[in-house]
Amino acid sequence: MSTTSTPLLQRLKDLSAPELRRLLTEQLTKQKLGLTWERDAIAHDRALNADVVLPRLLPEVSHTPEGCELHSNLIIEGDNFDALRLLRATHAGKIRVIYIDPPYNTGNKDWVYNDQYVGANDRWRHSQWLEFLYQRLSLARDLLTSDGVILVSINDENRARLELLMDEVFPGRRLGSLVWRTKDTGNDLAQRFSHVHEHVLVYANGGFSFNGRPTDRSKFRNPDNDPRGEWSPQPLTANKSLFERPNTYYPIQNPETGYWYPCDPDSTWRFASEAVIRRLCNGDETAVQAMLAGLRSDTMEALITKRLIYFPPCKPEEVMHFATKADLLAALKAGKGPVLPKKKIPLLRADLPDLDFWVGKPIATGRPSRKEHWTARPESERLAPLGSWIAGMNEDVEDDELEQLLLLRTTRGGVATEEVKNVLGSKAFPYPKPLSLIKNLLAQASRPGDTVLDFFAGSGTTGQAVLELNAEDGEGQPPRRFILCSSTEATAKEPAKNLCRDVCAERLRRVIAGYGGKPGHALAQGGEFAYLQLDKIDGADVLLDATAQHAATLLSMRNMAAAPVEQAQAAITVVAQQADWLLVLCQDTEPATLAALHALHQQHREARLSVVTPRPKALALWLAEQGIDAHTQALHEALTLGQGGRGRSARA
Ligand SMILES: C[S@@+](CC[C@H](N)C(=O)[O-])C[C@H]1O[C@@H](n2cnc3c(N)ncnc32)[C@H](O)[C@@H]1O
Repeated sequence: MSTTSTPLLQRLKDLSAPELRRLLTEQLTKQKLGLTWERDAIAHDRALNADVVLPRLLPEVSHTPEGCELHSNLIIEGDNFDALRLLRATHAGKIRVIYIDPPYNTGNKDWVYNDQYVGANDRWRHSQWLEFLYQRLSLARDLLTSDGVILVSINDENRARLELLMDEVFPGRRLGSLVWRTKDTGNDLAQRFSHVHEHVLVYANGGFSFNGRPTDRSKFRNPDNDPRGEWSPQPLTANKSLFERPNTYYPIQNPETGYWYPCDPDSTWRFASEAVIRRLCNGDETAVQAMLAGLRSDTMEALITKRLIYFPPCKPEEVMHFATKADLLAALKAGKGPVLPKKKIPLLRADLPDLDFWVGKPIATGRPSRKEHWTARPESERLAPLGSWIAGMNEDVEDDELEQLLLLRTTRGGVATEEVKNVLGSKAFPYPKPLSLIKNLLAQASRPGDTVLDFFAGSGTTGQAVLELNAEDGEGQPPRRFILCSSTEATAKEPAKNLCRDVCAERLRRVIAGYGGKPGHALAQGGEFAYLQLDKIDGADVLLDATAQHAATLLSMRNMAAAPVEQAQAAITVVAQQADWLLVLCQDTEPATLAALHALHQQHREARLSVVTPRPKALALWLAEQGIDAHTQALHEALTLGQGGRGRSARA
């Protein structure tokens, strides 16, 4: 790999002594905490240049069912740096969810930098990878809505590097990471470690939260016929020992049976006791009332009176009874005292301060719990996903509590290759992500109507996940939209290869049509897409080289967040329309064009016209003469808007 180290030396040679001193001071005092990579040593990413990126619609590769008037879903072919620059000019602040699965920098020729595969022995491999991602993530950041989120898949090896990079691009936005199991088994003896998991890093803007899951009502039962209805048992203990919280270590009694329940010395009660408070205050009623008033929740006695504590049934023959302290000590020594039901850890020990209390008392087995009634829960309350528990679809989960928390489940990676094969009939793509992974991530991170972007789309799994979620949403919900960016993966060896067209778009076309007995996706479920290629035009030549098609597609994307279904043909094209506003592309000021514009105004008298034209001043004059209330914008400005700040973005 060529480097720019020679020009760097040359540059240093040309500096004066004071300039060198300043540079050295800067280097010695600059912030060092965080990630550094050899930014100045690596060859410049050739995708980064100062031209303008314009979209070109390919109607023949797009999927346009009958009735489709605009394409909300986009598949963009080309380097994603260019696609992101275009999207920054059309979709800034409009993307709610970005999911990406970038090349992992494995050294196994899994990604291309400046048209060359970056191999394992490349000296600048990691720096090039970081710089490559840094440039793209910096652009992607501007696309997110104020409640947007970016989810990034990464393997274990590169997770730390990527996480530091994400911290740099999205400072203060880290929410956490998710872990999922990629394989059922692993036997990588050669590597001395079986890598069977991957990560998904989650960074989000302030307004974002996962959808969570509504509380499961079937977990609420009513074994004691409580007139307030079903309830769910909540733990009555806090994770504080007798020594940390001596005042919440006390025995409790079931007033109906008279049976006593010892406190766990390692995990004392969660609630204060009025009896303990009274003992502490030593007859000072004012102090008692002050302490009771200061409590944030009911006392244990109040909870018992309100029948909010559940004492599990205990048969008389199960009740323990120790007539003397000697009996009690002997039972404890023999391991026959009261224990925690599942863990069998003793609740009474010879060294406890209240041991005498238990002599002669009926001691129940089972543990009391606090009742939480279904009716007392706020309707909006939802469970949040648990980061480290993306478990296998086939995993048996016996523990009820654990199952409650398992929200993100996924099939293993190998299934994903089959999923692509089922649609396309061949193993058309190596290492796609499982549909269930992306679907479950998006089910948690997105809502109906959201736009989901994947700018390393590969085989288009994200598009299929979006379509399937739309179908599951049911009627009446606005469909989620997808924007997928994929390279062709054409190389000098395989110049005709077009992964984006032949795998990504083709997969979605077949999914929309229905495959393998699965139903297709109607237009209302998002069953359509526009296929776009990108043209890069030197800024100075925009007016010469940009076509009406470029302009119409770009303006539609910017103003309607959608692409047109057909190429602009006529001299005037309505590219966006709302009740009281029309955006019109007007390519010249020929008499026929002006006549068409006049007729359009007659047709939509209530709507204000915005006219994009290469001759804004002349047209503004003509519109004023006609008494038409309109705004004109220069075509050049409309084409280049939002594509400023090109080239290498400054380090944050
Ligand atoms: C790991 S794969 C993504 C697989 C995808 N998640 C799936 O399920 O099919 C990464 C993809 O990014 C593509 N890619 C790499 N560099 C790119 C670039 N600069 N622009 C666009 N795509 C790129 C590769 O061609 C590859 O298809």
